[in-house]
Amino acid sequence: MNGARKSNTLKLAVIGGDGIGPEVVRAALPAIIDAAAAYGVEVLVTELDWGGDRLLAKGAAMPDDAIGIVRAHDAVLLGAVGHPGLSADVSVWSLVLPLRKALDLYVNLRPVRAWNGVESVVRNAELTDLVVVRENTEGEYTGVGGRVHTGSVHEVATDVAVHSRRAITRVARYAFDLARARGQGVTLVTKSNVSRHGYALWDEVVEELGVAEYGDVPLEKTFVDAMAARLIQRPASLGVLLCSNLFGDILSDGAAPIAGGLGMVPSANLAPDTDSPGVFEPVHGSAPDIAGKGIANPMACVLSGAMLLRANGLDAAASLLEEAVGVAVQTDEGRTPDIGGRSTTASAGETVRAALASAQSRAPRTERLRL
Ligand code: NAD
Ligand code: IPM
Ligand code: MN
Repeated sequence: MNGARKSNTLKLAVIGGDGIGPEVVRAALPAIIDAAAAYGVEVLVTELDWGGDRLLAKGAAMPDDAIGIVRAHDAVLLGAVGHPGLSADVSVWSLVLPLRKALDLYVNLRPVRAWNGVESVVRNAELTDLVVVRENTEGEYTGVGGRVHTGSVHEVATDVAVHSRRAITRVARYAFDLARARGQGVTLVTKSNVSRHGYALWDEVVEELGVAEYGDVPLEKTFVDAMAARLIQRPASLGVLLCSNLFGDILSDGAAPIAGGLGMVPSANLAPDTDSPGVFEPVHGSAPDIAGKGIANPMACVLSGAMLLRANGLDAAASLLEEAVGVAVQTDEGRTPDIGGRSTTASAGETVRAALASAQSRAPRTERLRL
């Protein structure tokens, strides 16, 4: 999935999922296909009906050979999970978490930036260009734990946070490399003042790696509680935030208002330097409060598509798509209500396509064939 493309096709598995998931995917996919086509790459789509409806009908959100099916593709575009007919934990533990785990997608990348034309409640949002690098395999997400004495006054429940040197090292290396490439520093986010085993290990491992291999990349250590305030008050002071699984989850939603809200923040689940396909999905969930209304913002999904193209060697197509989003959200037709407009999901997606088409007609052909 990394490096320049050797083929002129890209095999894409598409999982709409639940709630607004299928709505944003339907609106975003044509723009993603157009952007790849502008660089001579045909996207071959396999639509997968996986999710809550399938679970209710057939007893499983995904088929038994799900991972094999996914592995036969270059990448996965996922809308969202969270079905109103199921408890939230069943939805997530039957699809999105097993996918991340089985493919060992150890980096969850969540870039957050401001957009011209999209108002932000955050001061100096326009000066901000940060990325959350979230450890994506362990922490509070291993499923280790349980309940005993159920229903009695002695009931006890545990969810054990697991932090390993190996998992910290590989995600920290990714964060340092990314910070170096972006010309930014790494800000490590922990709670090692209280969790003095797991987060102490984070502090040690990241510091050791920084000293040994990344002396040129500034490293700052912070606590998650202070970071929650800083994201709102001084977001432009941040570059690469290196977070554990749970802290990265929370802080990426916390950072979303910088971009205008959850409708504007994409993500990539990656296993760099392996042959596992990445899973690309908006940071937001299935948004049951607006599902079926046709007003969900598809831009987070479009931008996840741009990350997908980039991870598959189509850098110029990715940039073209991001620029088209930038143009679209400056227009009334490109803005859904969450970012101050009146557009529908479908017409916001179409506006991105129109912006793509007009950018293509302006770009010199050599530029378009840069790949
Ligand atoms: P959510 O992200 O679905 O919604 C939070 C708020 O943001 C809601 O008011 C919603 O309307 C709004 N919002 C989200 N996406 C939007 C968009 N594209 N356009 C406009 N507004 C948007 O979070 P939640 O309500 O806490 O969770 C709902 C369900 O989604 C839960 O079952 C949860 O477990 C699941 N979830 C799934 C994922 C995923 O699939 N990766 C991520 C987060 C939550
Ligand atoms: C996200 C979501 C998921 C997470 C859930 C759906 C498992 O909130 O992708 O941010 O916690 O990672
Ligand atoms: Mn989340």
